[in-house]
Amino acid sequence: MRHAAITGWGMAVPDRVLTNADLERMVETSDEWIVGRTGIKERRIVGPGDSTTSLATAASRLALDRAGITADELDLIIVGTCTPDQFLVSQACLVQAELGGNAGAFDLGAACSGFVYALATGSQFIQSGLYRRVLVVGVDTLTRFVDYADRTTCILFGDGAGAVVLEATDEQRGLLSTVLGADGAGHKHLYIPGWGALVPESAELFPEYRPYLQMNGQEVFRFAVRVMGDAAAEAVEKAGLTFADIDMLIPHQANLRIIDAAARRLDLPRDKVWVNVDRYGNTSAASIPIALCEAEAAGRLHEGANVVFVAFGGGLSWAAGAVRWGTAGVCRDAACRDGSRKPEAGTTGTGEREPGRL
Ligand SMILES: CC(C)(COP(=O)(O)OP(=O)(O)OC[C@H]1O[C@@H](n2cnc3c(N)ncnc32)[C@H](O)[C@@H]1OP(=O)(O)O)[C@@H](O)C(=O)NCCC(=O)NCCS
Repeated sequence: MRHAAITGWGMAVPDRVLTNADLERMVETSDEWIVGRTGIKERRIVGPGDSTTSLATAASRLALDRAGITADELDLIIVGTCTPDQFLVSQACLVQAELGGNAGAFDLGAACSGFVYALATGSQFIQSGLYRRVLVVGVDTLTRFVDYADRTTCILFGDGAGAVVLEATDEQRGLLSTVLGADGAGHKHLYIPGWGALVPESAELFPEYRPYLQMNGQEVFRFAVRVMGDAAAEAVEKAGLTFADIDMLIPHQANLRIIDAAARRLDLPRDKVWVNVDRYGNTSAASIPIALCEAEAAGRLHEGANVVFVAFGGGLSWAAGAVRWGTAGVCRDAACRDGSRKPEAGTTGTGEREPGRL
């Protein structure tokens, strides 16, 4: 059976740092309150030179370099985002304009669950045999839609991008199971009004109208604690694994209390849960691929490692998947790449293992 291995990965965050001390000067809040309720200490926010396109492109270039392929070799680009630079054209086409190539390109909207939804979609294109190489990006610049006078939301969000390259392999690598869910009735608990075709009708209002993110924090909190544990458990079970087999849980980074509740529910020790919400806040669709890049850079992922992704977000939506890390069986030379020769089991197609891989 064909699988979709993750062969490249990359992340990008803006240089500009917004600390809790900065926020103390902007709204009535305190470092103690923010850290105690969320675990967040600072976040990266876009500046004048940054955009959803610039972050997504930077992360994608790193992912392509890591995979050792060019954009010309891609069959498809999927961008999970709820903050595209514009609606016409898609964010995926704007990224392709920077990267080059003529792969199919489209966006996928599932808010903070967007990366896992996009990973599931991209994997399907490979598993079905239709495509061999897919770029999946999770990117958001939600701080463009945050009201920095609203202390209940402005403390939570940061910006960033993460990308992965998926490539076909006959070895059991990449996504082993997928759980996607949504409760559309909960759309009113987390949304950006007026950011779309449904705009306020008042002509006087419109020029000054700025769509700000609206959130019912307590509702979202209760929902998140419930679905994070349930979805992760379902993904593990569907993959035919148990939590004893899991090397790393990479949860959506929204709030440390939500992550801790999920880890307790799954009976996972803290050192098997990747946490970086303290440094980036909630980067929406980018949070899981950014965490993935950091976990890999820290040497926490090895060939054959079992990793679980779990996310929740606006929709309300949720998504989870068990992933087997590594590139075993992925073609790495020309003869093998065009499908005329199969790589030896456990190798990269040239008979050699990639540097830095077990
Ligand atoms: C937003 C969140 C941190 C608020 O924490 P909470 O424990 O639910 O806090 P509450 O909303 O009950 O507010 C408690 C008090 O703190 C106050 N408060 C809210 N924001 C504050 C801030 N930034 N600084 C200081 N006080 C604040 C509230 O006004 C309230 O005051 P009151 O008791 O006098 O009315 C929490 O609900 C949360 O994380 N929800 C999930 C949000 C999320 O993840 N969204 C993205 C999903 S992808």
